[in-house]
Amino acid sequence: MGRRAPVARLSDRVPPVASIGLGPVRFRSGEVILQDTLIREATAADLAGILAIYPRAFPDEDLVPVVRALAALPADEVLSLVAERAGQVVGHVLFTRCRAGQGGPVVALLAPLCVTPELHRQGLGGRLVRAGLAHLAGEGIAYALVLGDPAYYSRFGFRQEPSIATPYPLPAEWASGWQGLALRDSWQGLSPTCLVVPAPWQSPSLWQP
Ligand SMILES: CC(C)(COP(=O)(O)OP(=O)(O)OC[C@H]1O[C@@H](n2cnc3c(N)ncnc32)[C@H](O)[C@@H]1OP(=O)(O)O)[C@@H](O)C(=O)NCCC(=O)NCCS
Repeated sequence: MGRRAPVARLSDRVPPVASIGLGPVRFRSGEVILQDTLIREATAADLAGILAIYPRAFPDEDLVPVVRALAALPADEVLSLVAERAGQVVGHVLFTRCRAGQGGPVVALLAPLCVTPELHRQGLGGRLVRAGLAHLAGEGIAYALVLGDPAYYSRFGFRQEPSIATPYPLPAEWASGWQGLALRDSWQGLSPTCLVVPAPWQSPSLWQP
């Protein structure tokens, strides 16, 4: 972990003006400019830039097919945010709106997340995650889930998930990586159930090391 990241400065907040897909969509949490980086909703024109980051951020894993498949879902099933600097996409996060059990409440699955390697530890990953969580909470989604390193995701408040099981069994060494976070006070928890995911996530290999 070595050198500490420079302190990120939140230089400005601008009114929500982002638009995606078929018409203007208010980005309720607002666009956030971090130094010279804009966090905004992705558009179709961003796809090539998004897909270019993944092989560099994940050299041992090919996430391009699942990102491409998720990006092709209807806009109401995914929230896709990019970090843009000097006209280039330099970071990306996806949230998939899933269900906790058949017919259960909508919950958000955070994955994947990546930042171009040259810009790690400047706060971009954190800004993408927080902007997405705020946006989802604003639209009424009360819970988010992630499969990832607790050392990273615990900084956002994620804790090991007690009741919503993954769609496929996780290897024991990944169990602590399955984490949840209440986004709204209305979240009361659930009896044990299973996450219901759309087709791009219905592949056991995405839930294995
Ligand atoms: C994880 C990732 C998105 C973080 O982006 P970032 O912009 O560097 O993140 P931030 O600047 O907001 O936060 C950096 C902090 O996270 C820590 N961090 C980054 N990846 C970490 C990990 N896998 N485990 C623990 N801590 C991690 C850094 O050490 C740094 O810690 P510090 O604040 O104590 O110095 C980026 O490192 C990345 O793209 N990694 C490759 C892809 C990946 O692993 N994605 C997440 C898997 S779902």
